[in-house]
Amino acid sequence: MKITVVGAGAVGASCAEYIAIKDFASEVVLLDIKEGYAEGKAMDLMQTASLNGFDTKIIGSTNDYSKTANSDIVVITSGIPRKPGMTREELIGINAGIVKSVSSSLIKYSPNTIIIVVSNPMDTMTYLVHKTTGLPKHRIIGMGGALDSARFKYRLAEALGAPISDVDGMVIGGHSDKGMVPLTRLATRNSVPVSAFLSEDRITQVKEDTKVGGATLTKLLGTSAWYAPGAAVSGLVQAIACDQKKMFACSTLLEGEYGLNDLCIGVPVILGRNGIESIVELDLNQAEKDHMVQSAEGVKKTNGLLSS
Ligand code: LAC
Repeated sequence: MKITVVGAGAVGASCAEYIAIKDFASEVVLLDIKEGYAEGKAMDLMQTASLNGFDTKIIGSTNDYSKTANSDIVVITSGIPRKPGMTREELIGINAGIVKSVSSSLIKYSPNTIIIVVSNPMDTMTYLVHKTTGLPKHRIIGMGGALDSARFKYRLAEALGAPISDVDGMVIGGHSDKGMVPLTRLATRNSVPVSAFLSEDRITQVKEDTKVGGATLTKLLGTSAWYAPGAAVSGLVQAIACDQKKMFACSTLLEGEYGLNDLCIGVPVILGRNGIESIVELDLNQAEKDHMVQSAEGVKKTNGLLSS
């Protein structure tokens, strides 16, 4: 199993690290445009192999796409991260050009690959990868919901005073502060709805804290987060590589599901060796449906900026 991660910045490197530590891939190629940077990160990571007990080979390359040839899965993290106070949507001008050229170069060498998109604005970049590569929809996956759901579980556990392993929950919708739809009604502590333990106000607080999960970290760190994004990507990569048939919220091209068309947005999907094996249609209540429609409008508005 060969995996390429484009962008050796904080998210790309932590993604490569988590993939290596889980030890299911034979090879991870880390690629960056900055001379020597990916090689350096790869060497540093390889020097953790004996300490962390993995055999995955990590190779760094300065922009040589021939090194990525025949990758089973590729992850695109390239582009600029947001700074405090910026929205993900504001990154579109620079990142669209980068994602377009990176995805074209990748599929030249790996025409059968599965692409995971991390660059922001993530739903729009996933849509752009569709338009650029023309790959079948099950082979293009946007990482966002997996991260937002992890942040949701963190906030739920905090509110409940419970360990994370007691908590389950999912965030669908767009990967943006306004677009996220944390499904509080369906969130549970050991299969008991969280409403049995938390007041309506506390649940609303969890929802709001989840939606600004990335922005909160950007303010604290001065740039966007990397540990949880890297871990979320590695979870998706592992589910595909190991054919786990695991369910994650991911951005995928919708063609009528959830009453939506011609956009990529976060919904529950089953991930296996073919990429997106199926889309799971949840029975949402009216408020959740309305929130999804509103979220989709936001994503479409950002998609509209692609052509200008
Ligand atoms: C975040 C970025 C990766 O939410 O979108 O941290």
